Amino acid sequence: MRIAPLLSVRGLEVEFGTDQGVARVLDRINLDIAPGEVVGLVGESGCGKTTLARAILGILPPAAHTRGGEIFFKGRDLLREPAGAVNDHVRGKAITFIPQDPFTSFNPVFTVGTQMLDLMKWKSPRLRDADGATAGGRWPALLRRYPRARYRADRDAVLDILRAVQMPEPERALTRLPHEFSGGQRQRLMIAMALLPRPDLIIADEPTTALDVTIQAQILKLLAALVRDRGVSVLFTTHDLGTAHEICDRIVVMYAGQEMESAPTDSFFQRPAHPYTRKLLESLPSPDAEIRDIPGEVPSLIDPPSGCRFHPRCDFATAECRATRPGLSPVEPGHTVQCHHPVTAAR
Ligand SMILES: Nc1ncnc2c1ncn2[C@@H]1O[C@H](COP(=O)(O)OP(=O)(O)O)[C@@H](O)[C@H]1O
Ligand SMILES: [Mg+2]
Repeated sequence: MRIAPLLSVRGLEVEFGTDQGVARVLDRINLDIAPGEVVGLVGESGCGKTTLARAILGILPPAAHTRGGEIFFKGRDLLREPAGAVNDHVRGKAITFIPQDPFTSFNPVFTVGTQMLDLMKWKSPRLRDADGATAGGRWPALLRRYPRARYRADRDAVLDILRAVQMPEPERALTRLPHEFSGGQRQRLMIAMALLPRPDLIIADEPTTALDVTIQAQILKLLAALVRDRGVSVLFTTHDLGTAHEICDRIVVMYAGQEMESAPTDSFFQRPAHPYTRKLLESLPSPDAEIRDIPGEVPSLIDPPSGCRFHPRCDFATAECRATRPGLSPVEPGHTVQCHHPVTAAR
């Protein structure tokens, strides 16, 4: 029996208004994440990974708008839920975010302790409607109470999570300002903040690309261990197939705003079925290297190719590929490909 997904994105379309015209950045994207699953979203730069991550969180930039589709989270469509309910119960609480850049994600003028406890004031797992924050805004935000007992329990939880991310001297860390931490430590703090509300899903958008390579590996292993212990799902965007191989249960490949292939990590690397996936893997100089650009141009998203957006660069393209976008075909259990001519063992 198939487990109901925690997150199910269906036919999501997002456009950006630009000076040159409307860019169709997500073209009817589908994505499922099961409870406790770590999913890697991979693709060349500019293929729409960040846009998809932000669309799920409901934090698209003002130039972007969602034209269609559904984002089901625990069975409810976030695009059709009241904005207040999503803000109180989902964004920053049931779904949290680890951004790419640990250097700009903290407020420079408040201590780490102030910022972590402020997060807990609004998003603590102990928060109840009676505390006022979800009571429909009867009180202005600044006047809402922070009950003492909850404050103490939240502070203990903050210290626990700082220990879990292996932050040295957690009590002292609370009194320090963000700039007093190294990049790697700041990213540990971001992981701590993302875990604090006890989310069901963490969206991590290239969480370590700003860091030193050896520190990247340490931090990703730590993140993977922490989410496995807690049964938290992760959507992890990366252009690094090596790290995706290390930490992901399943890998989804995107190209120019369309999803191309989704497979458990082992079959992804052993039996890639999409011609684009195969090109990506062939372009890797070694298994732990980053995606290099493969021959040809990533198409303009203002006037994208018809049908399968990969067809102008594909060795197997036919008239059918130019005319219609392929549907989902199963390759093996849990492994699907969107291609009219998937590469199978027979080829
Ligand atoms: N603020 C913006 N305004 C206009 N276009 C944007 C904006 N942000 C991203 N885009 C376009 O959306 C596409 C996907 O970008 P992005 O989601 O950042 O890709 P990725 O994270 O995979 O590198 C790119 O073609 C980019 O040019
Ligand atoms: Mg990005």
